[in-house]
Amino acid sequence: MSKNTQIAPTLKENLLEPDDLIVSKTDVKGHITYANACFLSLSLFKEKDILNKPHNIIRHPDMPMAVYQMLWDTLHKGDEFFGIVKNLSADGSFYWVFANITPSFDESGKTIGYFSVRRQANRELVTIMGNLYKKMVQEEKRHSDDKRAIKASTQIFNNFIDEQGVSYNEYLISFA
Ligand SMILES: Cc1cc2nc3c(=O)[nH]c(=O)nc-3n(C[C@H](O)[C@H](O)[C@H](O)COP(=O)(O)O)c2cc1C
Repeated sequence: MSKNTQIAPTLKENLLEPDDLIVSKTDVKGHITYANACFLSLSLFKEKDILNKPHNIIRHPDMPMAVYQMLWDTLHKGDEFFGIVKNLSADGSFYWVFANITPSFDESGKTIGYFSVRRQANRELVTIMGNLYKKMVQEEKRHSDDKRAIKASTQIFNNFIDEQGVSYNEYLISFA
């Protein structure tokens, strides 16, 4: 893991425009192979500083480990992931996105990389998921073992989704 621990997060939020589309591609290990101009402008990183780096270079410490576990479990099954994500910019500021990540396959069906498109997130959903993530991160901090932390935090997440009476993806899309 090479989380970005050199950048001190601030409370400054950067807002996306309604037609902004943040795009990145990674190899199978999650190393960035492409980032579009919108990605660079929101993240405030220079292309040369992120290319071939792990995508967790923009990981925000307010994001629960359990969300990324779910993201990778979903991708490894060959499915697409949807989620509300808080990302870290190079100056410590942050931005919320509605993210979609899909595996890319070759002709034999082998995964050859991943592709992500993010857009402006619904503000009500950002508040709801932001509060949920706070509870999850609090729970994760109570455990010294990452596996146990993720299990307990996933339980909080699953309980919340169960209370909604619809699947996770249906819940997210209901705010579109
Ligand atoms: C295509 C793709 C896009 C991703 N986008 C993000 C992102 O925008 N922000 C983020 O924190 N992690 C993103 N990730 C997940 C990271 O690879 C990583 O799992 C996450 O930042 C958590 O870091 P860790 O796995 O080192 O704990 C993405 C992964 C893939 C495959």
